[in-house]
Amino acid sequence: MPPSSSGTILPQTTATQRGAHASSTSETALALPRVIAHRGLSAHAPENTLAAVRAAHAAGCRWVELDVQQLGDGTPVIWHDAGVRRCSNGRGKLRHLDLAQAQQLDVGSWFSPAFRHERMATLDEMLALIVEYDMGLNLELKISYRHSPAALAEAVVPRLLAALPPSRLLVSSFDRDALHTARAIETDPHRLRLGLLYDKLPKNWRADAETLLTYSIHLEWRKLKPAGASAVRDAGLRLLCYTANDPAVFLPRWAWGVDAVISDDPACFTNALS
Ligand code: G3P
Ligand code: MG
Repeated sequence: MPPSSSGTILPQTTATQRGAHASSTSETALALPRVIAHRGLSAHAPENTLAAVRAAHAAGCRWVELDVQQLGDGTPVIWHDAGVRRCSNGRGKLRHLDLAQAQQLDVGSWFSPAFRHERMATLDEMLALIVEYDMGLNLELKISYRHSPAALAEAVVPRLLAALPPSRLLVSSFDRDALHTARAIETDPHRLRLGLLYDKLPKNWRADAETLLTYSIHLEWRKLKPAGASAVRDAGLRLLCYTANDPAVFLPRWAWGVDAVISDDPACFTNALS
């Protein structure tokens, strides 16, 4: 996809797509908030759990960022690490568990005894909760060692498209193959927004963004430079930063053009922004 004369990367829409979704751009404009709850409200509840999303909703958060991976039996679950040791009472790799084994784990006590009944959430359970709450979801396709990027995207993206409107969905990943598979499943960039995750902005970000019809770039907030922020915004892309928890230190970056911040504790940002 070529840049426009102004240098802006414009999403291409085929005639068929325009016909099928004549007013899709206005109907599906993404309602991105300024602050997104990282792994749910992970400062106050065990990360990537139903409890963390309930806590985010109770705290007034409109969007959550969550990580998704597959168990050994292919079930997509909301989980960050390759293993279960850090965030459960178990040991071992996620890819060695089936759903029955995974849901025997206590995934809350590591955070607080108050969450001892928490169980690993499947993607389907999490989507039902997000639909119930009318929340937005930034779902990160998390690719651990020996996990297949294509298989994850094929298992996850159709479920997302069936459950959530395009205005409340943003799929991101560090993994190009996962994003390419997602884009192949839904080719219309207005019906599936993709976010490219990087640590710091690499030299080849424009090529990635053009190929994937990308909506947004997500960067580690300390690595963002004003020139990089301008370049992303000048290309017509949204700019998100993760994972920031100090609004005072983060403050100058809003003026650089950051659209949204992903935070473990969104209240500190919303209080500062208001
Ligand atoms: O999506 C932003 C952020 O979640 C990426 O890092 O390791 O917290 O998933 P991580
Ligand atoms: Mg993540």
